[in-house]
Amino acid sequence: MKHRRKTLAAALAVAALCFAATGAQAQSKIKVGFMLPYTGTYAALGNAIENGFKLYVQEQGGKLGGREIEYFKVDDESEPSKAVDNMNKLVKRDNVDVVVGTVHSGVVMAMAKVARDTNTLLVVPNAGAGAVTGPMCAPNIFRSSFTNWQPGYAMGKVAGEKGSKKVVTITWKYAAGDESVEGFREGLKSAGGEVVKELTLPFPNVEFQALLTEIAATKPDAVYAFFAGGGAVKFVKDYAAAGLNKTIPLYGPGFLTDGTLEAQGAAAQGMLTTLHYADGLSVPKDKAFRADYTKSYKSAPDVYAVQGYDAAQMLGAGLAAVKGDVSKRNDLVAAIENAHIESPRGAFTLSRAHNPVQDIYLHNAATTENKFEGVAVKGLADPARGCNMK
Ligand code: BEZ
Repeated sequence: MKHRRKTLAAALAVAALCFAATGAQAQSKIKVGFMLPYTGTYAALGNAIENGFKLYVQEQGGKLGGREIEYFKVDDESEPSKAVDNMNKLVKRDNVDVVVGTVHSGVVMAMAKVARDTNTLLVVPNAGAGAVTGPMCAPNIFRSSFTNWQPGYAMGKVAGEKGSKKVVTITWKYAAGDESVEGFREGLKSAGGEVVKELTLPFPNVEFQALLTEIAATKPDAVYAFFAGGGAVKFVKDYAAAGLNKTIPLYGPGFLTDGTLEAQGAAAQGMLTTLHYADGLSVPKDKAFRADYTKSYKSAPDVYAVQGYDAAQMLGAGLAAVKGDVSKRNDLVAAIENAHIESPRGAFTLSRAHNPVQDIYLHNAATTENKFEGVAVKGLADPARGCNMK
């Protein structure tokens, strides 16, 4: 009898321990690692992404999939040569459950390699490198933003339809600029135009003068430029200061004026660009998002904030499906793949390569807003060339 009581007591103690362990796991926080630029020409973009992500989590009471979130941060400086070490700080040192990053296409390619090698869940909230949802696509890699091809292609179509036959392109020489120009060329060609000269300078150089002189001498029908952040501010101002905006329309993906209009002032007025976000959309979700964001951060949101917000929504959809149990990776991935994201940009779904299929808008810079002018291309999916999802 005494022996039976002892055995029962031991069994109860083991059960209590197991219960405590499960409870502790359920209570532990999900570790989210932000790998973003917090310094340099893309610093404002990184901050807006983090703000957008945290806003969504805040709206969910600080939890995703029933679990609180703990944040870890690394400044990637938009520096590809430091990307593997930076990624390993989050993956190996901090042991995060998911990495959210980054802005720069060169950095994201190194991140995607580490994510593939370590099977780390990666949500890309900006960098548009085609390879990440092309040849490097993988079940554990998602993007909440765009590929560089998407807005470029849309702008090419619009420019061609507006009668631009001969266009000069100008960009930083790295994957984002090259791919943006490729998309533009394809869209322009489909509308009867051609790229007659491609000008480049190294990232993040902003000495544009010699190239502006070359544009003036070439006298194209239009110029297509890919720049973003601080570089976009300087380029648009220099273009206007050289008087080129009076005779040669300056087009670009919306990064040329999004989040930068206030600093660009008169130089940007009337510029037409294409992007998956615009000011003045009649999307109810956008109205609420803009009000909440402005209240929380005392500044208006831009496309980068939207992409951060949607990265959190995508992760939230995955975590909700597995009730916060990240070990159920296949179910988590399937839930994100099938999610219908109610984004401030308008609802979107993901392609088989895990990239948003989305409307690309035409927007027009007016005072401090990139006003919605219309839909340039509806439901545009990146071609995802080379993606062979296992
Ligand atoms: C990129 O490097 O992919 C990128 C950076 C800023 C804006 C858009 C794209």
